[in-house]
Amino acid sequence: MRSSASSGVVFEEPLIFERGAEGRTGASLPEMDVPKADPKALFGAQFRKDGTPLPELSEPEVFRHYVRLSEWNYSIDNTFYPLGSCTMKYNPKVNEWAARLPGFARLHPYAPESQIQGALELMWHLEAGLAEVCGMDRVSLQPAAGAQGELAGLMMIRAYHEAQGRSPKKVLVPETAHGTNPASCAFNGFTTVAFPGGENGIVEPSAIAPYLSDDVAAIMLTNPNTLGLFESNLPVIATMLHDKGALVYGDGANLNALMGRVRPGDLGIDVMQFNLHKTFTTPHGGGGPGCGPVGYKKLLDPFAPSPTVEKAEDGKFKLSFHRDASVGRLRSFYGNFGMMVRAYTYMRELGAEGLKAATDMAVLNANYLRAALGETWNVAYDTTCMHEVVINDKHLRDTGVTTLDIAKRLIDYGFHPPTVYFPLVVKGAMLVEPTETESKQTLDQFVDVMKKIDEEAHKEPEKVKGAPHMTNLRRLDETRAARNPVLRWTAPTST
Ligand SMILES: Cc1ncc(COP(=O)(O)O)c(C=O)c1O
Repeated sequence: MRSSASSGVVFEEPLIFERGAEGRTGASLPEMDVPKADPKALFGAQFRKDGTPLPELSEPEVFRHYVRLSEWNYSIDNTFYPLGSCTMKYNPKVNEWAARLPGFARLHPYAPESQIQGALELMWHLEAGLAEVCGMDRVSLQPAAGAQGELAGLMMIRAYHEAQGRSPKKVLVPETAHGTNPASCAFNGFTTVAFPGGENGIVEPSAIAPYLSDDVAAIMLTNPNTLGLFESNLPVIATMLHDKGALVYGDGANLNALMGRVRPGDLGIDVMQFNLHKTFTTPHGGGGPGCGPVGYKKLLDPFAPSPTVEKAEDGKFKLSFHRDASVGRLRSFYGNFGMMVRAYTYMRELGAEGLKAATDMAVLNANYLRAALGETWNVAYDTTCMHEVVINDKHLRDTGVTTLDIAKRLIDYGFHPPTVYFPLVVKGAMLVEPTETESKQTLDQFVDVMKKIDEEAHKEPEKVKGAPHMTNLRRLDETRAARNPVLRWTAPTST
């Protein structure tokens, strides 16, 4: 039994597997007009011996079950979702229409090139568009997520050094970096050298100077960084690294703040990943199929993942596997094609001016929140921010209310909490990223709720500390849920 709380009413109801009755069904099949076959004879040893105690249910019961489950979740389609660094960007529905067009959705990955010209053409145009946006020479569409794009970029950097008979072992990574950065280094056999950001939250050239040596393969910098600040010293830093024979990896996860305004390639970055879900409105989350293309300058082309899409002289599109020094294939077939269709649709829907406008609105919205939230909360770096802003609860320390309590209380008010306790360099950080599609009205509601929670923390701290009060499940043991997830339903034993 589970309790359910739609609109605050709590009642006990059976789980779907505990419902149903023998013979109840949601399907009506036509009369059999062929002899009945013995499934065991058809499937042999693959057939289950003990039967499957699945519930027998009507269509409305099944439908209600899944709709109810969806209501227990938060999504960008039903609420403001200011999850900094993760960028919960609205997924326009026209993208879904395009991805479901039968000519795209029903393609078989083994179809011959002559029959998939349209798909290859779309990939070719998407690559060209992304290369233009980031100021790179080429882009591989293969990686399945931002983290895999990082992995690919660092593999190319390693191959580049090895081709020159060098094997530098270190990669410089600032303390503000996303956790995937050091992980990608480790996967490539590099040692991460962490260095602090400057007083203003950005990397100062003087901070990295002591770490530069012949053993440095690259620096990994996120721009804007995870504090939402523009790394204005990047061109100087890039020159310092290049002078040492090292390369510059740009974590492009925050491109939503630059798109159409600043090209990372023009700042000295040699290779970077795109998180299409964070910039080009492809679906996010759930660990599902994603797309994290990796853009690179010409010097890394010999090492790029293969295959790539090339346009032949006769105008036909081809898959090329011809790169002797390629780091190889990163993903089965050609990557997650459905995501490419969605990203390309977004790019074409908005056009160059639209992409610029999206960037401008994302930055404007974040700065509006910085100013408005700053009336009550502590803004970690109170200077013009890019697409996200870090606040914290420094002023509540005497109340006993924690950052996690505030996040949980926001859920009672119908908002998904911002990212909390990240970046690690700000104590009690709340990283708020509104994105460009939110209206001033929504932002004002969020600010009002944050003010209310601040008042509650002073006057009724227990209310905040006990939150959430209005959800189906209360506080979970998140560590246990992550370490020992219970993913399998077990049939109740009959008594
Ligand atoms: C700055 C930064 N780098 C890398 C990543 C990893 O990207 P992904 O989640 O697509 O693997 C993220 C994720 O949001 C990020 O915010």
